[in-house]
Amino acid sequence: MHRLGILLSGRGSNFLAIHRAIGDGRIPDAEIAVVISNKAEAKGLDAARSLDLPAVAICQQGKGPAAREEHDTKMIAALTDYSVDLVCLAGYMRIISPAFVQAFPNRILNIHPSLLPAFPGLDAQQQALDYGVKVAGCTVHFVDEAVDHGVIVLQKTVLVQDEDTSETLSGKILEQEHRAYPEAIARVLSGTHRIVGRRYLPL
Ligand code: GRF
Repeated sequence: MHRLGILLSGRGSNFLAIHRAIGDGRIPDAEIAVVISNKAEAKGLDAARSLDLPAVAICQQGKGPAAREEHDTKMIAALTDYSVDLVCLAGYMRIISPAFVQAFPNRILNIHPSLLPAFPGLDAQQQALDYGVKVAGCTVHFVDEAVDHGVIVLQKTVLVQDEDTSETLSGKILEQEHRAYPEAIARVLSGTHRIVGRRYLPL
């Protein structure tokens, strides 16, 4: 049984999409071992508790490299305590340290609401609108030591309409995120693909 650790900072809709996908068999042979947040007030933690899943807050203490390392040491310890073998960042709004990445080599996934490498960082949907793209989407990727940069597992697209606002575009992308993340997790856990350079290809 694969044990997922979900890291989030906010409402947790991607976490809930993953939970549903485990429930209906789209992510076979997996369970959510723990949900961890850097924000005690994250709605996603409440959702985890009401599903009777272990929910842990490990709160933020500063942003410098030393603070990041200290925070991530606690994160690694918690993930290890719960025997997590795949870490899924789902709206986790904190940059993770190199030590964290190295503790779970090719075992950390992230979802980003743009077609990377376009529009990394914050407010990706607004960045896409401002740029004037006609196609937007989301990306599930492995986490490496650079932000929104690791090997891409899969992407899904949405069409941008002339009348779209940041809110409507975010909603359409979020719908695709909820399909993309479970599919990507299932693909990674199935062991049918491998990383070749920057490409994720069938064995
Ligand atoms: C999503 O748009 C995700 O792509 C981004 O943060 C948002 C999290 O939403 N990284 P939720 O907390 O999963 O609802």
